[in-house]
Amino acid sequence: AIQRTFSIIKPDATKRNLTGQIAAKFEEAGLRIVASKRIQLTLAQAQKFYGVHSERPFFGELCEFMISEPIVVQVLEGEDAIAKNREVMGATNPAEAAEGTIRKEFALSIGENSVHGSDAPETAAEEIAFFFSGLELVG
Ligand code: CMP
Repeated sequence: AIQRTFSIIKPDATKRNLTGQIAAKFEEAGLRIVASKRIQLTLAQAQKFYGVHSERPFFGELCEFMISEPIVVQVLEGEDAIAKNREVMGATNPAEAAEGTIRKEFALSIGENSVHGSDAPETAAEEIAFFFSGLELVG
């Protein structure tokens, strides 16, 4: 089915000017970028977005990293968009990411891993609503 998923191009990638190369990977995979904006998160926004990870040992480091530079938040649309995006991103840890994936090509470490993507339809809907209004989604 046609789905929408939420994506973040993270600070390590925007800093190295990789926004276009990463967006091209999404488009080559058949995903359409139906919303896109460059923003810089506040600490409160980062903590809220990553709230499910608040008890993890890396939570503080994760939030500080996510506010260190601008990010690009996007909504990707296409057939099985959630799974397709996860395939294009590759494993969370770039050392385990498959050849040709975004994280294999660009990520620096498990924390500085260049992209975030929703893991399920419910989280995709929540994450899209966190950053975008309906009027900003233009299929
Ligand atoms: P993301 O998909 O954005 O969701 C949570 C993030 O936590 C994950 O990508 C990783 O970048 C980050 N993360 C997971 N494990 C670690 C870790 N051990 N150290 C730092 N960051 C981590």
